[in-house]
Amino acid sequence: MDFLCLLLVFLHCLASTEACSMTHSHVFNVEEVPRTRLCRTKSIMTVNGQFPGPNLYARRGDTIVVKVHNHASKNVTIHWHGVKQPRNPWSDGPEFITQCPIKPGASFTYTIILSTEEGTVWWHAHNDFDRATVHGAIVVRPRRGTRYPFPHPFQEFVIMLGREWWNRGANAVLEEALSTGGEVESSDAFTINGQPGDLYPCSSAGTFRMLVEHGKTYLLRVVNAAMSNGLFFSVASHTVVVVGSDGNYVKPLSADYIMITPGETMDLLLEANQPPDVLYYMAGRAFSYLSLGSFPTTATTAIVEYVSDLPLESTKPLQPTLPYYNDTAAATNFSFALRSPANAAHPVDVPMTVDQDMFIVAAINELECPQASCAGPNGTRLRASLNNISFVDPPIDILEAYYAGIEGVFGENFPNMPPYYYNFTATDQPLSLLLPTLGTEVRVLEYGARMEVVFQGTSLVTGDNHPMHLHGYSFYVVGWGFGNFDKERDPLRYNLEDPPIKNTVGVPINGWVAVRFTANNPGVWFMHCHIERHMIWGMNTVLIVKDGEGSKEKVLPPPRHMPPC
Ligand code: C2O
Ligand code: CU
Repeated sequence: MDFLCLLLVFLHCLASTEACSMTHSHVFNVEEVPRTRLCRTKSIMTVNGQFPGPNLYARRGDTIVVKVHNHASKNVTIHWHGVKQPRNPWSDGPEFITQCPIKPGASFTYTIILSTEEGTVWWHAHNDFDRATVHGAIVVRPRRGTRYPFPHPFQEFVIMLGREWWNRGANAVLEEALSTGGEVESSDAFTINGQPGDLYPCSSAGTFRMLVEHGKTYLLRVVNAAMSNGLFFSVASHTVVVVGSDGNYVKPLSADYIMITPGETMDLLLEANQPPDVLYYMAGRAFSYLSLGSFPTTATTAIVEYVSDLPLESTKPLQPTLPYYNDTAAATNFSFALRSPANAAHPVDVPMTVDQDMFIVAAINELECPQASCAGPNGTRLRASLNNISFVDPPIDILEAYYAGIEGVFGENFPNMPPYYYNFTATDQPLSLLLPTLGTEVRVLEYGARMEVVFQGTSLVTGDNHPMHLHGYSFYVVGWGFGNFDKERDPLRYNLEDPPIKNTVGVPINGWVAVRFTANNPGVWFMHCHIERHMIWGMNTVLIVKDGEGSKEKVLPPPRHMPPC
């Protein structure tokens, strides 16, 4: 291209932002490869043999096309977590919700349509326990000609946090838990960028090292890809500034530690302003209510190392202090301090009035055991539910059934409220409350409905912090609290001014969270807890948003080829 031509393209870009959007193409070969961690070698599912998988880079408004070839010996699907995919549920990825799985030997091409996302989102397998090793970041930079709402960082790093390593293999662990009905066995390590780090056996050599120059500022794109645990994360002696989360900017927030739930992303600025002759650990450690022993208690670490001529004072890195495992206050103090920028460049358009509200009770349940005895509490098997319905995967995907009008695949009776009200957060719960109903029920919403969804946590079986995630949308987190949600009093305290925009929000243990959004993305959208075993136990539902009147308000036609079931 000659200079004049380039200039024309540039001027065109300035005049019309859309003309600047690009399409990026990638090939994902899903394959099983041997990898060694914690002194043992095993075969794991990967994309392109990479572990963690490749990071994708784009700008706001771009489109990414990914051709997935399944060379593995089992089914797989890929989801683009935090990408709203306007009108395009076909490429969203959750198995039996928007597609049938890609079988061994088969291929499927995903079209990932970015719209208002800016920051860090990510991709991961959305079937079985494959997400443990099949995931990567999607870095969405500002559009050409626009800037970050903070000083341009000198360099940036993706920090894939917490993906857990099971010595036995993730799917073997899942199968055992499902067949016995019991708890999923604890993983053996958390990881940072695929490495457990120094504090785990046989792990020093691989430990991720981040080289920094004194006086420069770095952007860390932190993703919690862990299957079962929120994580506290901190860098020794350094304060970070949170500038984004879930593909949206936030008002800069200084923090000595962060808490990140499974599914969330956090963009952090780190100023390298500490003595350069010392090594510093960045560390992630579990945030969990389970008893010690049911999750790894060792911190996963990486090393921040200054580029310097000074000899090192010690080869032992400094350790950050992290909150205790079950420190709820530390978790909520951080999570609910996030705020939207709420300025001209990043405005807030939270619905001020609501057309439809849903009150959704998230619970862990016990179900009768089909065999003689199961490994769950009192010989039952563990399940999980929303409004007492424990979601069951249908035989073909809901999107296809909805689009083609195939009857009998799903019901439309997911309730707007629980079947009965009780003290959701009491210490003792009557056994009758423990039994959920199995079913495949969705909620159908009118196009454009202004929605409020309140998620209520419970103390049934084992309470937990449930990271609730909605596909196809992001939402404003307008309120939260401990105890039972009070429909009269609590909405008076909502933040409708600068609530953060999220796609995943941790519902505090024995507490609630209220979110609002406008249902303006037609399609079939999964809503579930992002703790993998809770999802597999059925803490899910689906929102179907109907087409609107306008031509730009309808689900796009399906691609020529969707994988058959
Ligand atoms: Cu990150 Cu339905 O998932
Ligand atoms: Cu959960």
